Amino acid sequence: MSDRVDEPAKQDSAGSEELLREHAYDGIQEYDNPLPGWWVWTWILSIVFCFPYVVFYHGADGRSLEDEYEQEVADFADMLLATYGELQPDEETIRRYMSDDVAMAGMKSLFKSKCTQCHKADGTGLVGPNLTDDAWINVKVLTDLPKVLEQGVVPKGMPAWGSQFSTTQIVLMSAYVASLRADPKPGKAAQGEAIPPWAAGLAGS
Ligand code: HEC
Repeated sequence: MSDRVDEPAKQDSAGSEELLREHAYDGIQEYDNPLPGWWVWTWILSIVFCFPYVVFYHGADGRSLEDEYEQEVADFADMLLATYGELQPDEETIRRYMSDDVAMAGMKSLFKSKCTQCHKADGTGLVGPNLTDDAWINVKVLTDLPKVLEQGVVPKGMPAWGSQFSTTQIVLMSAYVASLRADPKPGKAAQGEAIPPWAAGLAGS
């Protein structure tokens, strides 16, 4: 072991002002060697900066990257929607869009953002009924879907979407909801009455 261990603080070999501290651990002494000023200031300023940053971007009006991304997706969806023109809520139109992959992908994400809280992202139901099974409360034929979406069932907790969605969106969302029945999943227990498949509805009308 070196005989420097018990020596008092002294200058290092370069003769600078970095002094050896007095204490020794297992024979190891450390320099009293402060972090460089620029480093300490970068650290302090980044701590100070984080508070207004969090408040502005996560609490107030500041747009996070996620907000900007969502805005761009929404703008793109609007642009896409414009290409569909004004759709009519009739059986033939709803049926046609049920197999339009692009429209259905758009509605899937709209459903996720607006309907998940009550119907679950996959439509199997929470507060609202399971939309993938054959049991329906307010719907008998395909064209009942746009009516329910537009007017809601307000006393039962299903909001009216007519003021938020355009008619074209209502039609496309009806097609999306109708398409969920093609893949029935277990979820909320059946509510209402079993109705025939949409195709049979067409034959009967
Ligand atoms: C705040 C909760 C809530 C939200 C959000 C909501 N729903 Fe509903 N929805 C309900 C409830 C509750 C019912 C059942 C109404 C009843 O008992 O008659 C319902 C019923 C329905 C029905 C008729 C089902 C049937 O069996 O008659 C459809 C279709 C539907 N919702 C689609 C949607 C779509 C699409 C969205 C999103 C755009 C949506 N809902 C958003 C609560 C909600």
